[in-house]
Amino acid sequence: MGAINAVTDLALDGDIAILSLNSPPVNALSQQVRDGLVKAMKAAVENSATKSIVLICEGKTFIAGADITEFGKPPQPPLLPEVEAAIENSPKPVVAAIHGTALGGGLEVALCCHYRVAVPSAKCGLPEVNLGLLPGAGGTQRLPRIVGPEQALEMVTSGKHVDAKTAHANGLIDEIVPEGELRAGAIAYAKRIVAEKRPLRKVRDSNEKVVAARGKPQIFADFRKTNARKFRGFLAPEYNIRCIEAAVNLPFDEGLKFEHKLFVELLNGTQSAAQRYVFFAERQVWKIPDVPEDTPTIPIKKVGVIGAGTMGGGISMNFANVGIPVTIVEMKQEPLDRGFGVIRKNYERTAKSGRITAADVDKRMGLLTPSLKLEDLADCDLVIEAVFENMDVKKDVFGKLDRIVKQGAILATNTSYLNVNEIASATQRPEWVIGLHFFSPANVMRLLEVVRGAKTSKQVIATSMQLAKRIGKIAALVGVCHGFVGNRMLAARQTQANAMILEGAMPWDVDKVLYEFGMPMGPFAMADLAGLDIGWSRETSKGATIRDVLCEMDRRGQKTGAGFYDYDAERNAKPSPTSEKVIKDFMAKGGTTPRKISEEEILARCIYPMINEGAKILEEKIAIRPSDIDIVWINGYGWPVYRGGPMFYADTVGLTNVVAKLKEYGPKLGSDFRISPLLEKLASEGKRFQDMK
Ligand SMILES: NC(=O)c1ccc[n+]([C@@H]2O[C@H](COP(=O)([O-])OP(=O)(O)OC[C@H]3O[C@@H](n4cnc5c(N)ncnc54)[C@H](O)[C@@H]3O)[C@@H](O)[C@H]2O)c1
Repeated sequence: MGAINAVTDLALDGDIAILSLNSPPVNALSQQVRDGLVKAMKAAVENSATKSIVLICEGKTFIAGADITEFGKPPQPPLLPEVEAAIENSPKPVVAAIHGTALGGGLEVALCCHYRVAVPSAKCGLPEVNLGLLPGAGGTQRLPRIVGPEQALEMVTSGKHVDAKTAHANGLIDEIVPEGELRAGAIAYAKRIVAEKRPLRKVRDSNEKVVAARGKPQIFADFRKTNARKFRGFLAPEYNIRCIEAAVNLPFDEGLKFEHKLFVELLNGTQSAAQRYVFFAERQVWKIPDVPEDTPTIPIKKVGVIGAGTMGGGISMNFANVGIPVTIVEMKQEPLDRGFGVIRKNYERTAKSGRITAADVDKRMGLLTPSLKLEDLADCDLVIEAVFENMDVKKDVFGKLDRIVKQGAILATNTSYLNVNEIASATQRPEWVIGLHFFSPANVMRLLEVVRGAKTSKQVIATSMQLAKRIGKIAALVGVCHGFVGNRMLAARQTQANAMILEGAMPWDVDKVLYEFGMPMGPFAMADLAGLDIGWSRETSKGATIRDVLCEMDRRGQKTGAGFYDYDAERNAKPSPTSEKVIKDFMAKGGTTPRKISEEEILARCIYPMINEGAKILEEKIAIRPSDIDIVWINGYGWPVYRGGPMFYADTVGLTNVVAKLKEYGPKLGSDFRISPLLEKLASEGKRFQDMK
């Protein structure tokens, strides 16, 4: 009894042994914790005074999963299954005492205990799927034996926690003990088990719920069908489902073997590598080398937004959602009313779906103040401009803001492409000016590109990053260039997409390849959704592009029922013979004979120029690191997480292959196309973007 190792302790309370872990911050299953658990179990079992064992954790949580710093390194013994065997095969009953979160390997360990008690605030979950994995230490075989296959499917494929009440209702937790009294409650429970001579209940031997589901493949077929959209392209959810199927159909030990085989396959596969990379990238993105974490920030208590259009409305909602009052300024009453109407409708829709209450709608609307006067923004701590994308208009607005808004306030622009330094030059305080580039719909999309101007101060940057977190966004700090990181790379793709439909590919051919790659939609479906007439007018149209011609025909995208595609009343897209004819006529006029373009070429010409542009962005230090670019593409454009973002994807393809293909397609990529020297250099040195320091 006493200290087992630096993180494990064994104490006696009457005839109950208390095995406690204390490995901050989350008692993750590090080698030391595993070693302590095995040794402590042995000592507790061998101690003749002990009748039962309580496994409990110090600090804020029960074991909250694997030690992620061990990922990618050779595992050091004892491994998790050995720990689990020591617990499950103990001749004395083991009670897991859960507070905080029992996650991943932590819950798998708890599932090897014979009983589980928890405080009401505790949560249980198997989040491995989020890292492209499955619970590989028996979780997929034990969980359905307790909660039944339906709930197990939900838990392993969503990766979401269940609260103690739900866990108690579905059998995962045997007893809830009062908050703050976990230790005493667990000891009392263990004493009761001993007194009542309750059997050693091993989850592995409880077959009732899985046997009940045997011969009912419909359970799985239905589950796959219901979630098909959500799981599209991902391997891990499917592998998790197969493991639950195995739990239902195979004896426990065979199921374990099956789980292990699939786990190893996922662990060694590209998808999980990508998802684990993204996990770290999401933490890295907040770190700015020359803006340390302790940089002073400015309190933001009141926000002003200029423009109540598509973006202004969505941007304002972000602040109202976290209780920050916003004054929204428009030029005229009509667009102001319209903007407020849209915001209210959005909130009401959310309330209808049950995610907020009717009272929340009123509270949030109450935080928004309409105004027709820029003067009303005088005492705001942050003003975000979201007016038309026009330099003169923006400079005019910033010149006025400079005269009106108090000193010490941040003046931000939501511009998509324009030069933030030029906008800042309209003020006498360029160090207070920054780009806050939200993505549409701004109340939904997670990404915020924070655009650092040449003179933007560090405290303005630090405040912007902190504020992004507060409103639930993920922010990437980028520099000034046309389109910043996201739209600049998008333009590289768009150039090729436009070129290919003038060489013989149809818009739906291009879209199909990108959709199958995992993007939510291709460039032409996206153009139809946004409206083909953005920046187009009949007066100035020259009929010089396919888009001009389609707009002239009033095929302006989804909103007009037709664009590149034809749309039915439900806005389902169909390839359009009309636009096909427009494209073919265009080619005939230009004297081009259409050729068949392979799917490989479509993919390479869409994606590799983006990667090349990403490399230029790194050369120019517009992005801090390759993984920040990946964060932008995953969160702003729906790049599939399982491909890790364009820069990670390039690494998986191999940079020499990317360069070789860019050279092969070179003549078709346009006269402006240049291969990035950085990309060529990395390729020639056999390096990856991930190796950049
Ligand atoms: N729509 C997008 O997908 C998107 C995404 C990111 C960024 N942006 C950028 O956001 C900005 C706004 O775009 P949007 O799509 O919301 O445009 P929008 O046309 O929907 O809204 C602009 C609003 O600004 C108002 N406005 C114009 N000049 C004004 C002034 N001087 N004072 C007060 N109000 C004024 C207009 O009345 C209009 O309601 C642009 O810079 C755009 O590039 C747009």
